[in-house]
Amino acid sequence: MSVEEIGIDVGVLKHEIKKTYASVSSEPHAEFVFPTGRAWAEDLDYPEELARVPESAVESFAGVANPFSLGRLEPGERVLDLGSGAGTDSLVAAQMVGDGGRVTGIDMTPEMVAKARGAAAELGVANVEFLEGEAERLPFEDASFDVVISNGVIDLIPDKDVVFSELHRVLTPGGRIQVADVTIQNPVSAEGRRNIDLWTG
Ligand SMILES: C[S@@+](CC[C@H](N)C(=O)[O-])C[C@H]1O[C@@H](n2cnc3c(N)ncnc32)[C@H](O)[C@@H]1O
Repeated sequence: MSVEEIGIDVGVLKHEIKKTYASVSSEPHAEFVFPTGRAWAEDLDYPEELARVPESAVESFAGVANPFSLGRLEPGERVLDLGSGAGTDSLVAAQMVGDGGRVTGIDMTPEMVAKARGAAAELGVANVEFLEGEAERLPFEDASFDVVISNGVIDLIPDKDVVFSELHRVLTPGGRIQVADVTIQNPVSAEGRRNIDLWTG
């Protein structure tokens, strides 16, 4: 379904999403309508690498499931973390791919990107970078990555066709996508689709 058909103002939606996730970054112990933090990641059976990820990242973990339950990443792989937030999944991935691999996290909320960079420095890994940018316009060459991971991000984006087309473009032929996300079982009413609070929550 196109953004026009949904009838939502994408500029307003992005503004509200950034506001929500700036709060998750700056007030990680506040009450949100979704679960956050290390206890939540542990409930999701995150791999052992989670233990080394600094609290400064994990306290703002806001994923919806565990993309590593679809398989571990291999040493040497080039990984894109789409909507990397405060960096938990990227920093797990950086440990899995090791010095011969690299991880790039991209997120449109500047507070999240700053937090992820701080956590990477704290962990002391040199194979990960965090960029500010939008999933609909990825600033990467074609075929730049072996695997894309993403956690709780694509559900926030109205134009999913554009996102998947971008992921297909930046993945190397034969590359893979390990996405954890929210899906719906029943159609949402037109009124519900236009409700910004339902998108951001
Ligand atoms: C639910 S949080 C998940 C963050 C992280 N993946 C995690 O597991 O903690 C969603 C993240 O997606 C980012 N995001 C939402 N829409 C985006 C878009 N169109 N482009 C880039 N990032 C986006 C938000 O800024 C937020 O940090």
